[in-house]
Amino acid sequence: MQPLEVVILAAGKGTRMGGEKPKALHQIAGVPMLRRVADTASTLKPDQIHVVVPPGQGDILAECLPAGCQLTIQPEPLGTAAALKCALPLVSKGADLLVLYGDMPLLRPESLVRLREARTSGAALVMLTAILDDPSRYGRVIRNNANKVAKVVEMLDANDQERAVKEINTGVYLASKADFACWLEQVGSDNHQSEFYLTDIVALAAGDRVEGVILSDPTESLGINDRLQWAKVEAEQQKRFAYQLLATGVGVSSPEHLFLRGNFADFVFGVDCHIDVGAVLTGPLRCGDRVQIGAYSVLKNCLIEDDVVVAPFSHIEGCSINAGSRIGPFARLRPGSKVGANVEVGNFVEVNRSSLGDSTRAKHLAYLGDVHMGADCNIGAGVVTCNYDGNHKHSSELGEKIFVGSNSTLVSPLKVGDNAYVAAGSTVTRDIQPGQVAAARSRQRNIRGSLFKRIQKNRQD
Ligand code: UD1
Ligand code: CA
Repeated sequence: MQPLEVVILAAGKGTRMGGEKPKALHQIAGVPMLRRVADTASTLKPDQIHVVVPPGQGDILAECLPAGCQLTIQPEPLGTAAALKCALPLVSKGADLLVLYGDMPLLRPESLVRLREARTSGAALVMLTAILDDPSRYGRVIRNNANKVAKVVEMLDANDQERAVKEINTGVYLASKADFACWLEQVGSDNHQSEFYLTDIVALAAGDRVEGVILSDPTESLGINDRLQWAKVEAEQQKRFAYQLLATGVGVSSPEHLFLRGNFADFVFGVDCHIDVGAVLTGPLRCGDRVQIGAYSVLKNCLIEDDVVVAPFSHIEGCSINAGSRIGPFARLRPGSKVGANVEVGNFVEVNRSSLGDSTRAKHLAYLGDVHMGADCNIGAGVVTCNYDGNHKHSSELGEKIFVGSNSTLVSPLKVGDNAYVAAGSTVTRDIQPGQVAAARSRQRNIRGSLFKRIQKNRQD
């Protein structure tokens, strides 16, 4: 096959999206749509990927692109043909050129492979088309009596008969650089939008044979021009992920209510895992066997071993959780935390940059920040580590089998030895040696007679 280069057009105004954010940066399943298109193009291993961008957005768009993409500025958004013309001088002589629009992130690599194969038939221009029940505002593909593609008519320029056509233009074209250059010279702007339409090249190429390759899955053609189309594309991407998970043996309670952010390869699940409704999972996420992710939990960048249960409404980021532990409901594990095996972190417990040894339990209402504790500790309700003195963070070391009574505060830095016992309600400011009991609270006074009764008597007098 000939050398291949790709041009992705992403210099449109994106006005229909509303807002100021460049359209190309709107994310589909957590990845900018332009990045998804570029990644799909990369699977063909082209010699170069060119991206046409608007003035002032070069740096911000470059950040989201894979390394090695070459950016070209289109000074004014005069239309898709004008955009391609900006990149053409940078394309090597003799190369085949694949043109993609930056707003159709559902396109699959397999479809591009089919397109390249079709080019070997000798057609000058090969293009991807789709049959849609509702062709809405897409350009219509008009075929001649021999069923060959004759032209593309934009919806706004189409007559009633043309508008009734259900085969649409996806905006994916493959031809030689030389042919593109020749056709582009002849494109004018005499149309409803007074723009230079790239779609006009189809009629110009028709004499030299145009091959229209129809997508087997029409959802690949979905473009994003406004928020409603964005939502439809996002939902379709999530459905694909959910079906992929189900196909690999992962239970998904409701494919319509699963939210994965990243690429599918970022998610690894062992056998018999289950994801309940409304979970929002951002990769990389690695789960062992039989992991259960509860409803409406949010997980990002985690390593989770076998048999872990994440109960509903938990928020876990940048953590590792060892086998058999139970987290939540309503737990928050913040980045840098390491949870041992068979640990229990219950409701309204926050763990921040801390490690919890095997079988340690913090079942309710606690803040554990910058603390490292050994195995088999019991952290009572309302325990708070005071890790910040207003200027600096301090950390504490707790040994094994330590009991911290409810509503105690541990003022860091502290060292607490194995088997130590902290009486409920203590404010601990000094280290505790192994086996010691620390009771750091004012002594209770039980006053003989009833003060309360005396007060009442005084009132009556
Ligand atoms: C375009 C096609 C239409 C097709 C549809 C598929 C044309 C004239 N029409 O319509 O036939 O059915 O895509 O989704 O091509 N862009 C530039 N510079 C410009 C204008 C646009 O780089 O001056 C880029 C946009 O950023 C976008 C792509 O080209 O990524 C397509 O432009 P857009 O305005 O979205 O075209 P559609 O109206 O969707
Ligand atoms: Ca579009």
